[in-house]
Amino acid sequence: MCGIVGYIGDNKALNFLLQGLSKLEYRGYDSAGIAVNCGENIFVEKAVGRLDALKEKLHNQKIDGTIGIGHTRWATHGRPSDRNAHPHTDCQENFVVVHNGIIENYMALKENLISRGHKFISETDTEVVPHLLEEFYNGNFLESVQKVLKKIEGSYSLVFMSKAHPDTLICAKQDNPLVVGLGNGENFIASDIPAIISKTRNAYILNDGEIAVVKKDSVKIFNRNGEVVEKKIFHVNWNAEAAEKGGYEHFMLKEINEQPKAVRDTISKRISKDGASIELELGWDKNFLDSINKIYIIACGTAYHAGLVAKFYIEKLARKLVEVDVASEYRYRNPIVDDKTLVIVISQSGETSDTLAALKESRRLGAKTLAITNVVGSSIAREAEQVIYTVAGPEIAVASTKAYTTQLILVFMLALYMAQIGKTISTERARELIDLLKKIPAQISETLSDVDPIKTFARQYGFNEDVFYIGRSLDYCVALEGALKLKEISYIHAEAYASGELKHGTLALIVEGVPVIALATQKSVYEKTISNIKEVKARDAVVIGIGAAGDTELEKYLDHVIFVPNTDELLIPLLTVVPLQLLAYYAAITRGCDVDKPRNLAKSVTVE
Ligand code: F6R
Repeated sequence: MCGIVGYIGDNKALNFLLQGLSKLEYRGYDSAGIAVNCGENIFVEKAVGRLDALKEKLHNQKIDGTIGIGHTRWATHGRPSDRNAHPHTDCQENFVVVHNGIIENYMALKENLISRGHKFISETDTEVVPHLLEEFYNGNFLESVQKVLKKIEGSYSLVFMSKAHPDTLICAKQDNPLVVGLGNGENFIASDIPAIISKTRNAYILNDGEIAVVKKDSVKIFNRNGEVVEKKIFHVNWNAEAAEKGGYEHFMLKEINEQPKAVRDTISKRISKDGASIELELGWDKNFLDSINKIYIIACGTAYHAGLVAKFYIEKLARKLVEVDVASEYRYRNPIVDDKTLVIVISQSGETSDTLAALKESRRLGAKTLAITNVVGSSIAREAEQVIYTVAGPEIAVASTKAYTTQLILVFMLALYMAQIGKTISTERARELIDLLKKIPAQISETLSDVDPIKTFARQYGFNEDVFYIGRSLDYCVALEGALKLKEISYIHAEAYASGELKHGTLALIVEGVPVIALATQKSVYEKTISNIKEVKARDAVVIGIGAAGDTELEKYLDHVIFVPNTDELLIPLLTVVPLQLLAYYAAITRGCDVDKPRNLAKSVTVE
């Protein structure tokens, strides 16, 4: 996720660019940059770090141009640095581009452009775009941009500026948001409404495949086939704060709803073209896997819960022994680690102090190390020998949601990748799982489409003081995450138990009316799960089940059931966690809690 802006009019472009970017920093904040057409040349400035670092660089500079573009970055290709910051230019600096998204075929395009003499200065996927424009430019700005768009594959919102066309900005949208704000003698381009709201409340919201040619007093929109599109003006009636949350009441709800895209982006480019194998950017082979006799997965909180699922996946698919530990425990117990150990750390922020320290300790002990993180260039990404990224975009709400689901999808792909290298899975089974994996983003969307029953349960049970979550096998891992979500944002005491453990003590707490959330999706332990459900029902608990669509059995034993779409039992945690996130969210709302900033908690835990 990144934020992009553009301005064309009679006022100084820089003012709007900086103001607009400050409203889009929630979309990315590891570096920022602007470009302003100053007639003779296009002035470009970029700075790693937050927007203030860029403002500092621009301080006292005289930049009077009235057309410009800007960008705030959340790195996906290439770590945060001045060079990798946008805007990017072609060799002659005639064209400047800002981009949000991922150009999937950039490697092939880049190789071809280099062979034709183009010089690249960044590690980004985006830089191919201005060079392609340089290659195709025929004097007609729009036509040349259209040719570029035909060449690139992937997701994007893009804004193009050309030195030779100081009266025009062109922008295009595919899978990433883009709006054109309509002013009086001036127009604005932005990733999102908050950036334009102080200037205008009238906008065109672009659809996928659309291109807008934006001049100071006109906006013309074309579809993929080059035909003119007559669009309705969208009138924004949100206030500025609501706009920043995309119209959602809280960042957490917005991020829950962003999961289909976050998961899709994390899968993207990591499946071979023929759909038969997982391709991770790790370069492992059978010798490497044979050199490992044990895997440690280390993380904290929600990331630790993703680690528990990862253990299950890796042991089941790749047949390697895995231990999972919370970082704050691992580092102080003299772990048995050597050069035959692979240590995998999982961290959304990449800055969690306990996880970082555990990683450093593992390296000191000689382990091979791999980080799974969401933040390119973070301390953990830099410290580990190898790193693979979740592509969730910035997570603002303290309670982790989209980071968790992207971690699950990535550890699933890692396990499958290892299984394919180690030949512990058949070709048919691997293909079957990959086919199902590709359906997960749409199935998450489906799960998100029916929240009313969850709202009702939250209202009904939101004032209970204790809630129990039970499940077996992978359902138990998800139960742990569901209970954590409820605790941290609604302050309800919630505990998760492996269902089989109830009879060893906890059953004493199950009395009339106590809510129990029972996950029952794991076919291999289904009968046993039903027996455990009967145990709590016999004590008059109120049982809400989470089951897979088509399960006609479950309803017989429960008070209510929430069904998620059916998939393989390995992948279903990606779906069952969604109603649990929503249940926690609506319970917190019912209790009037500060959902995005729960008491006593911080987003990035950089203290021990
Ligand atoms: C819970 C939550 C925390 C984090 C934990 C680790 O919703 O967000 O439990 O998962 O603090 O943070 P990262 O993943 O940044 O290392």
